Amino acid sequence: MIGWIKNLFKKKSVSKESIQLPILLESDILEVRSYALKDWKLGETHGLSHWQRVERNGILLSLENGRIREDINIKVVRFFAYLHDKCRLNDWADLEHGVRAAEMLSTIRYTILKDFTDEEIALLGKACRYHTTELRTGNPTIDVCFDADRLDLCRVGIAPNPKRMATKQGAYYAANIYLVDKHVLKYEKKSLRQKIVVLTGAGISAESGLATFRDSKGLWKQHDAKKLASAAGFHENPQAVLDFYNYRRKQLLEVEPNHAHKMLAELGKWHDVTIITQNVDNLHERAGSTHVIHLHGELTKVTSSKDRLNPHCIKDYPLDKPICLGDKAEDGSQLRPFIVWFGEYVDAIEVAMDYVKKADIFVVIGTSLTVHPAANLVEYAHPEIPKFIIDPNTKEIPNGFVHIKESATKGVDKLIEELRNL
Ligand code: APR
Repeated sequence: MIGWIKNLFKKKSVSKESIQLPILLESDILEVRSYALKDWKLGETHGLSHWQRVERNGILLSLENGRIREDINIKVVRFFAYLHDKCRLNDWADLEHGVRAAEMLSTIRYTILKDFTDEEIALLGKACRYHTTELRTGNPTIDVCFDADRLDLCRVGIAPNPKRMATKQGAYYAANIYLVDKHVLKYEKKSLRQKIVVLTGAGISAESGLATFRDSKGLWKQHDAKKLASAAGFHENPQAVLDFYNYRRKQLLEVEPNHAHKMLAELGKWHDVTIITQNVDNLHERAGSTHVIHLHGELTKVTSSKDRLNPHCIKDYPLDKPICLGDKAEDGSQLRPFIVWFGEYVDAIEVAMDYVKKADIFVVIGTSLTVHPAANLVEYAHPEIPKFIIDPNTKEIPNGFVHIKESATKGVDKLIEELRNL
């Protein structure tokens, strides 16, 4: 035991070059980092660069033989780095900020901390609570959090006292503080396979010969959406509605996926591609895309007009077989197309939101973004990830999106180019 204290004070000659810490995934802390930054009013003393250094110190103090020690929960250490100052009122003597941070955790339990176990929440709470005290807890994760923050206090002129550090390593680095900055935190991008989420609308199928809705020759320019795409319209004139969808169902047999559909399917060979489409056609699947979420239903399916989400009533239905008045669903009600009409709940929206939230790259192709809740999905993409929108027409571009002002078939080639350069 005494041996390591002697080493504490032996001046070691260290080489100039930086020392590489194990690389950890940046994607794991993106959300908590931007949460910490949100509404941050205080300066840099306890701002982002401090949090990043506390994360680095925490990783440094958790190392043994170049690996993260098993008795240390590195996820808690990293989240502590970004959350411990979140409730600070000032940059100086705010001794209660740790306690406030611990209490704040319950407000983000099911968002930022949704992947934490209850034990990890308790650990993170203790780390926040204890870091403004002088208590050594004997819990390696909490003590590492304590020391990780203390080691950075030298920046505000408070040299960490080796005797007051909670861990052996902390005492060592407190005595050799110049060493800390030699350790550089480098994030690793996720494996080359990125989670790409693509929101598509009628525009992506326009070059396959399917009309969009709101362009000059769009369907809603020729037909009354309220009459043909609402439960009330179906109730009032079911034959007209069935004729409208039977025509669109049959038309699907006459069109083919285009280059844009095919390139997205191709992209799925290299990345985890999720297509969230407002389209009711099956061109994404026919192009080979394997993960397609239909928000507004599918022309290839039929369902009950009494309970349209009843899984026993949702059936594939041959496109060349018209749905006729009198055709019955499993529950004996009139058969209707499996389409989400205006005013009806979009049951796939939560799943879609989740994919957008977790995306590494988000792309929007061929939608006017005028129909909700689909259009709101753009708000769930992480502020820091690359975001693209492909549409030949000038329109309001959501914040942070790169506008590829091209048709879908031309635009996807430009997109692939952009992705290559990321
Ligand atoms: N390539 C890419 N985009 C195109 C192309 C093309 N070749 N042609 C047109 N667009 C764009 C238009 O500029 C427009 O922004 O596609 C968009 C089509 O918008 P809408 O017609 O409003 O279609 P969409 O956004 O998919 O509609 C949403 O409304 O009627 C409901 O349920 C229906 O799912 C649909 C929803």
